[in-house]
This record gives sequence, C-alpha cells and structure tokens, in this order.
Amino acid sequence: MFKSILLRLVLPVALASGVVAFFGVPYMDKLLTEWFRNDVQMRAELVMRSMQQPVSELVAAHDDRKLRRYLGEITSDSRLLAIAVCSRDGTPIVETELTPAAVDCRMASGDSQRAERILHLASGSVQVSRFDFDQAKPPYRVLLVHDLSFVDRRQRTLRDFLLAFVAIAVVVLALLVVLAVWLQLRRWIQALIGDIRGRRFLDDARSSRSSLPILSEVREVLAEIEEQQRLEIDFRENWTPQALHQVVETQLRSAQVLVVSNREPYIHNRDADGRVRVQVPASGMVTAMEPIVRACGGTWIAHGSGSADREVVDRNDKVRVPPDSPEYTLRRVWLTPEQEAGYYYGFSNEGLWPLCHLAYVRPEFRAADWRAYEEVNRKFADSCAAEANIDSPVVLIQDFHFALLPKFLRERIPKATIALFWHIPWPNAETFGVCPWQRDILLHMLSADVLGFHTLYHCQNFLETLDRFVECQIDREHMTVRHQGHVCRVVAYPISIEWPPRWLKGVPDVETCRAAVRERYGIGQSVSIGLGVERWDFTKGIVERLHALEALLERNPRQRGRITFLQVAAPSRSQLPAYQALQQHTLAEVERINQRFAESNWQPIVLIGEHQEPQRVFELYRAADCCLVNSLHDGMNLVAKEFVAARDDEDGVLILSTFAGASRELAEALLINPYDVNATADAIEAAMRMGREERRGRMTLMRRTVKENNVYRWAGRMLMDLARIRQRQSLAAFTRLGR
Ligand code: G6P
Repeated sequence: MFKSILLRLVLPVALASGVVAFFGVPYMDKLLTEWFRNDVQMRAELVMRSMQQPVSELVAAHDDRKLRRYLGEITSDSRLLAIAVCSRDGTPIVETELTPAAVDCRMASGDSQRAERILHLASGSVQVSRFDFDQAKPPYRVLLVHDLSFVDRRQRTLRDFLLAFVAIAVVVLALLVVLAVWLQLRRWIQALIGDIRGRRFLDDARSSRSSLPILSEVREVLAEIEEQQRLEIDFRENWTPQALHQVVETQLRSAQVLVVSNREPYIHNRDADGRVRVQVPASGMVTAMEPIVRACGGTWIAHGSGSADREVVDRNDKVRVPPDSPEYTLRRVWLTPEQEAGYYYGFSNEGLWPLCHLAYVRPEFRAADWRAYEEVNRKFADSCAAEANIDSPVVLIQDFHFALLPKFLRERIPKATIALFWHIPWPNAETFGVCPWQRDILLHMLSADVLGFHTLYHCQNFLETLDRFVECQIDREHMTVRHQGHVCRVVAYPISIEWPPRWLKGVPDVETCRAAVRERYGIGQSVSIGLGVERWDFTKGIVERLHALEALLERNPRQRGRITFLQVAAPSRSQLPAYQALQQHTLAEVERINQRFAESNWQPIVLIGEHQEPQRVFELYRAADCCLVNSLHDGMNLVAKEFVAARDDEDGVLILSTFAGASRELAEALLINPYDVNATADAIEAAMRMGREERRGRMTLMRRTVKENNVYRWAGRMLMDLARIRQRQSLAAFTRLGR
C-alpha cells in the first residue's frame, strides 16, 4: 500500500510542484512580460495611427499650443503616461506634463522608423515607443511613453498565486506521506507484535521478496536471533523439562500443544483377577514423547486400546495421567475392531512397517486396509479439531500410523502449525515405490510444516522419494519442499530419552540389582549377564542374536557356563502371522540352543517372553554386563540409550547394530553388522574380556552424549523450529500486506 501511494500519488504531485516552483514561476514571468510588451506595442501603433493626421497638421502649422492640448487629451488614458513630439534633430517641440526626464528625443535613434525601448525608472518601468515621420513636412518624431507598472502588479499577483499553489501542494503531500508512514508503521508494529506473540500467519517462510528495506532488516535481525538461539541450543548441555517448558512459554507464547499418536502412554487393562492395572507400553515413541508432554502440558490424543480404558475416562473420553501424579490430559479415541484390523494391523503393521524396515519381510497392501487407514486418519483429525481451543495450535503428530493426518488436519484447522515425526526409517525411493498409494501418502504428508526423521539419511531418502513421485520444488540446501504454495521443512531430529530417566528413581544400586536378577533367573555369581530388551519384532534381530551366542559357545567351549543371555521379548502385534511365526521360531531356537549347551546349573539363554514394566527393565539394565542391540533396521532404538542412562556406575558394554540410528551417536559402543553372526559373536567375546578402564572410558563418553542430547533437546529443537516458522509466516503475511 505504501509503495502504491508513493508511486501513484506522492511522487507525481511532488514532481509537478517542484517543476512549478523552480521553472514555472520564472517562465510565467517572462511570458507575461512578453505578452504585455506586445500588447503595449500594438496599442502604441493604434494610438499613433489615430494621432498621425492631426499631429502632422499641427506640427506643420507650428501650433504648439493646440498640439499640447491635443496631446494632453490623449494622455488622459491612465496607461499612456506621456507623449513627446520632437523635431528630427532631437529638439523637443511639445512634451506632455508627465514626460519623465529620462525620456530624451535623441535616445531612441536608429535607422528603423519604428522602435521600442524599456526604461526602468525609480517610479517604475515605462515602455517608450518611437515613431519617426521622415516624409512629413517638416519631419518629426513622436515618443509614446507607456506606464508598465500594471505589468509588474499582474506579475506579482500571478507569482503569489503560483507560490501559494506550490505551498499548498507541499503541505498536502507532507500530510499524505505522514499518513502513509503512520499506517505502514502501524502494520509493521502489529506484525512484529504478532511475531513476538508467536501469532499464526500464512506461510511463505523463505520469502525474500520484500520490497521494503525495513522488512529485510527485521528479517536479518530475526535471522541473527535465530542463529543465537541455535547456538544456545547447541551449547546448552543441560536440557531439562524446565528449559523445554520455557521454550513453549517464550517461543510459542504458550500456544496449545496437541500430541497425536496411535499408541497411548498409559493403558488401563483389567487383569485375570478383575483388577484394573495401568501398563506403560513398550514403545520407543512413548518412551520419548511422554516426558515431553509432561513438561509441556497439553493434550495427548491416542487410540484407547486397553480392556479397561473406557471405564476410567470422563464424559469427553478424557483421563488425567500419569495416574499416580496427573500432569496432562489423555484423550482416547475409540476404534471398531474392523478399523483396528484394517488401519493398525493391516495397513500400518503389515504394510508400512515392513515397507520402511529392511528386514526382508514382504509388505502386504490391501485396498480394504487402505480404506480403514484413511477412515481412522480422518477420525483422528476430527478429534484433534474438537480438542483445539485456538485457531493455531501446535500439533505434533507421531509416526507412520498417521501419514494422511497433516492434510486432513490442515483442512480442519488451516492455521495449525503441524509437525509429523516419523519414528521409523524412511526407505529409498525404489523401495517406497512398491506401495500402491505412495503418491497419496506423500501428498498428504506435505501439508505438514515440518517432517522430522531420526537421521539425515532418512531425510534424503524422503526427498529422493518425493523427487520420484511428486511434482514439487525441492530445495536441498535448506531441506524444504514447496508444493502448491505451501512450504514443508524436512529436518533430522535424532530422538532420545529423558535425562535422568524417571524410572531410575527408586531403583537400587547396581550390586543390589545384579544380586536380585541373578537370584530371580538362577544365574550363578561368576556368570556374565548378557541382555536384550525388545518388543518381539522381526526388525530387532532377536534370532540373529541367539545365533551369535550359539556361534560363540560353539567355537569357544571355554565360554560355556560363563555367560547367560537374558532376552526380554515383549509380545507385540501378536495377531499378525509374521509376528506369530517369529515368536515360534524364537522359542524353538531358544530351546534348541539351550538343549545343545545347557549344563547342570547353567543355561545359555533365559527368555522372558512377556511385557516388563519400566522399573523392571531398568533393574535389568543395571544388572547386565553387556547389552546387545542388534536390530536389523531401526529408526533410532532407545533401548541403547536407556542402557547407557541406567549405568551411573559407568560400567557395562553396549553392542550396537550399525543399522540402528543410535549408532550415529553412540560411536563408543561395539558396532556390529547383525547379519554377520560371527562378528557379533566376536563382539560378545570382546565385551566379556574388556577391562574395567576401557568399559568406564566408553561408557563415560556415551553417557555424556545421551545426557547432552536428551529428549528435551530433541523436542526443544523441533519446537524452536516450529516457533521460527510461525514467526516467518507472520513476516510473510506482513510482506504481502505491504505490497
Ligand atoms: C515403534 C513405533 C511406535 C510404536 C512402537 C510399538 O517404536 O515407532 O510408534 O508405538 O513401535 O508398537 P505398537 O504397535 O505396539 O504401538
């Protein structure tokens, strides 16, 4: 608006006023002078023509008295000041009364019979018109003296008028400029206040098209602040729940935060005795998100899957959790058995899960499952919209169960700031391409503001997939995708755990834990404890791990009786054939290996094939000599990080698959290829032989890494990015207003 006022109104008027003031006034002066002189000249000729006959006769008759009277009558016209009649030798014959002394009969000499001259006298300017009558007898000359003071008067009036016009134009212009600047400043201030309050505006985040220099400056200042914040985050070692809470308060201006996931953080189940028990599910996603929601507050929307879930919610399907000291609200969404079968078991776990994990289990894609997946995604979008109490909430969508949710949500809450975090790997374009609905999934995901993955590698796979299947603008430098005017950022946020983990509270010291575990599972004092903790999933490499142990015992009989492997396998998705087959295969292999090597009071493998509550798991972590995380493919794997966090005695060895995202950060673990059974066996043996100092050195470094890169930092980075997006969007909206 400012620009158009300036271009269309202020500049032309200012230019016109300037031209009038600097060139118009002198030009008009000159022009008027010319006009009036010509006018006077013409009048002089007319007067002379009418006078010529009588004057010639009176001069010829030498009747000076009559001539004087006659001339006196003619000069009664106020503009004709005086007349002088002279002989041709320059002697005055008759001069009327007011003839100025400066008017001399000789002064107007020259060849021409007719001439004009201006005299500037003290009393004002006069124009003298000379007429020579050389043919008359006797020859004579007439000088007509015209008063020009009226010309001066008129010029003065006109000049005053023009200057008054310029002055009024300048005043009007100044007022217009002040008004435009004031309006513009008001907009800027409002937009900046909007920024500061974290208000939501439409997206054009990378826009650098501002034509207003002040906006570029504001943008630069914001960029500097961003950089400072980034540095602060990078160098802040102590990310705590309080720090995260502060980010929500200051950066997001306490905007409403909604978390959406399939798995709920607390499941109410009715056990065999008819009692309601609360279970914390074995889910990396829950492990990571739960401390975040506790720190930020807000509402967590999830599928109510427990047998007693409906009994404990209020009229709005809500329950406050954690049950022992409530800190946030869990809103449960109910699914029909058909919806659960198609959306959860079918499309999510038989389709997307094996598709995204390279574990060589064939994905199944059925149209009916896809329809259920769409239906449930819509259902969650409705619940989310119902929970939103402002028009621009921050919605944190979790995982592959909700690939369609960003678009469905955007339709319902257009101004929401939406992040979707993909907790599992993203495969390469060719692999993802086998999904019959690849394009729909990608297009729906792109409605998010941020798409998060654990590693840069997964981000790049995602961009490559987009490049292959969707027409969009990919900016690999800034990792953004523009599709139909919407900008979506693709960012790597390596997920983590809370530090210190709350489950450590109340868990006894390491020696007590070791003693308790040895006793519970009948493990001798001199026997090393190897540990595996997983959901019973084909991506975790459980059978490969058993084979590695077998290889170790086979090729090095001296290790028999020296190590027992405790494998926690929490039953998961047990309705699915692939999971049932894995369970049977695992049981069979455990039995076979145990039978092959077991001795009187020692067996190589103890399988704990049921869910363990977190305190129990932490007790196991503390009791173990080494922990094996040999996933065939894993987005991050938080068991690795939990094991490290549990070891405040700075002891224990971590053996970690290079195909788990955690291996990017925990470089001091013994890294293995889980498909290489012998190499895994070597790693177990190396762990058993490793000296205390080396164990301490490795563990100390890993603990520092996990402590610094804890889950509050993960969430803090994501929320800061979302806050920045909101600020940029407000600037972009403001830029559009200014145009
Ligand atoms: C993975 C997924 C989570 C999921 C968890 C447990 O970690 O990323 O979203 O919750 O597995 O699986 P489940 O199907 O039991 O929720």
